[in-house]
Amino acid sequence: MRQDDHLQRRIEQKLDTRRQQQLLRSVSAFHHQDGKLFDTDNQPYLNFSGNDYLGLAHDASLITAWQEGLDTFGAGSTASPLVTGFSSAHQTLERALCDWLGFERALLFNSGFSANQAVIFSLLEKHDTLLQDKLNHASLMEAGMLCDAKMQRFPHNNVHKLESMLHATAQTSARFVVTEGVFSMDGDLSPLADIRSVCDQHDAWLMVDDAHGIGVLGEQGQGSAHAANIQPDILIVTFGKAFGMMGAAVMCSEHVHDYLTQFARHYVYSTAMPPAQAHALSHTLSMIRTQSWRREKLSALSAVFHEELQGCDEVIETITPIKPVVLGSVEKMQVIASKLKANGFLTGAIRPPTVPVNTARLRITLSVNQSETQVKDLAVLLRRCIEEGK
Ligand SMILES: Cc1ncc(COP(=O)(O)O)c(C=O)c1O
Repeated sequence: MRQDDHLQRRIEQKLDTRRQQQLLRSVSAFHHQDGKLFDTDNQPYLNFSGNDYLGLAHDASLITAWQEGLDTFGAGSTASPLVTGFSSAHQTLERALCDWLGFERALLFNSGFSANQAVIFSLLEKHDTLLQDKLNHASLMEAGMLCDAKMQRFPHNNVHKLESMLHATAQTSARFVVTEGVFSMDGDLSPLADIRSVCDQHDAWLMVDDAHGIGVLGEQGQGSAHAANIQPDILIVTFGKAFGMMGAAVMCSEHVHDYLTQFARHYVYSTAMPPAQAHALSHTLSMIRTQSWRREKLSALSAVFHEELQGCDEVIETITPIKPVVLGSVEKMQVIASKLKANGFLTGAIRPPTVPVNTARLRITLSVNQSETQVKDLAVLLRRCIEEGK
């Protein structure tokens, strides 16, 4: 290392700090087989940590659809959408999304992260105000911090506070309110009907990031906005969770679509998703629309989980497949996560800065791939681990 290598020193210091705080993140390799997850030592686990809520990621008909897409359209899209990257497979998917969700237009992105950033960066300007729920996803917060508009954060799901902030910013030009439909680390719903109503009263636009509600809520899985009977101005749909794949769509009006096509740099200057993927996503979409038994099974699993853990204050009751178990300290959370893992249950161990300090939690997620017995076994063991830790 050079004596004056500031970057190298900074990297070491920051890694050391994370290590000392027990907050160092690392990546482990897993492979999936026959509904189980295996680590590199071939140790099997039941997966209670993923976002494949509807159990589609390994569905045989979806895999066939993707293979058909590869045969028909090839491996890659070859260019950004405005050059030659946009195909009939992309067009079919966009139209199916519009039909399902009741929007004029859809615009496809390679990830929810880029879709969120594209909208905020391209739509908002210097004298605008961006109002975000405090618990919004990192992609939204980062865009808010770096965009030209002034960002204000309202306390989680606090519509009164949002309203007073809208009132206080009446003199600024555009006001743009952003919330998740289902909060990723808490599994609770945003009060979308009330938020829509205050936005209307104050001439503000509303964008809903429904990464965790789409596919799961609503009669045909249309998500949290549909379940709340409202239409946001912009809806972000991601394909990495209930869709079992990856990518995202911005659902919007014809005008916003035309605007983003000119100005959204994440769209204009990025290679389009492979058409085979778009083809497979159309297949997933039709499964989500028609196979309501998957949502019914999730509800049944959820009932089993909460019934077994009744009276356990650490377990937050939700109607979504996201079940937070808020344990407070990182140490306590890690002890319980390790015990569950040693018994074959993999759960999400979530630490600050992903969640606020002193709210380290297990993020347990339900999936159609799990059985009621497996959920019950996890719940019984979890209760025992929590009681032992007291
Ligand atoms: C609420 C929310 N929005 C956006 C994203 C980013 O989506 P993607 O994984 O497609 O980049 C996530 C992913 O974790 C999320 O939870």
